[in-house]
Amino acid sequence: MAIVIIRQDDKIELWKKALLAQQPDLEVYSYLEKHPKEKIDMALVWKHPNGALAPYPNLKLIASSGAGVDFIFEDDTAPKNLPITRVVDDMLAKDMSEHVLAVILSHLKNLDRYRVNQLKGIWQPMQYHRISDFTIGILGLGALGKELAGDLVKYGFKVQGWSNSQKNIQGVTSFVGEPGLGEFLKTTQILVCLLPLTEATTGILNKELFKQLPKGAFVINVARGGHLVDEDLLEMLNNGHLSGAGLDVYHQEPLPKEHAFWNHEKIQMTPHYASVSDTDSVVPQILENHNRLLNNKPLLNEVVMDKGY
Ligand code: GLV
Repeated sequence: MAIVIIRQDDKIELWKKALLAQQPDLEVYSYLEKHPKEKIDMALVWKHPNGALAPYPNLKLIASSGAGVDFIFEDDTAPKNLPITRVVDDMLAKDMSEHVLAVILSHLKNLDRYRVNQLKGIWQPMQYHRISDFTIGILGLGALGKELAGDLVKYGFKVQGWSNSQKNIQGVTSFVGEPGLGEFLKTTQILVCLLPLTEATTGILNKELFKQLPKGAFVINVARGGHLVDEDLLEMLNNGHLSGAGLDVYHQEPLPKEHAFWNHEKIQMTPHYASVSDTDSVVPQILENHNRLLNNKPLLNEVVMDKGY
């Protein structure tokens, strides 16, 4: 029984060390080293190359090392009918909440626009805004959205959320499903997308949705590039309907050099770093699931296949 780590960045050794530190007798391999394929029962993956999950005849579990699992569904060659798990982690949720708060405050206090003016040598005080002036709307009230919502309420924002089912979070107005979306958007001044990327949510951040936000609204996408229709965002920023956007995720990462987002004054970009799994924090749930797999016990954070998250 062994685990294989499959990812294309430079973090394979980091994950291996973290797993071994917490369970020294574990058999764990990088997919790049020579390893006994038939012994692998669990693959720990992050944006693996297409086809990399195919060579394991006894694979029983695909574990994402992040919160998202969209990249697993996108791989047509990944074995079907195997359980998939994702990461649900307090540190991941806290980090995301801190990042989004930073982007919101930067927008609210005009820091993003002052930076643009500074580089041009422009001294021009802008309208002052306070936390109490703003309603934040969060698309998606899963583990990450819930954490953010709670934190924003503590800071004194008006907070509302939109999700598939009614959520009861203190101080947060809950809007549900297609019928609730219009009302939710109408009063949302800063929109934060924290949805999972599924067939139903692909391209949800589009012109039709943006038009339902009040003029001057600000959009933050920290979920997946696939949620956003890039041209629609650019159009709505350029015609003045939206005041700006904070983006952490893109259709293609790294974002190609020629993409229009790079030089857009109203777009604040970060390179998919808002919230990244911390190995020490996440490894216990990975090991716990490997143990549960060996003992035929129900898995933690298992993806519901019909929902895609
Ligand atoms: C990061 O994007 C994650 O899904 O954990």
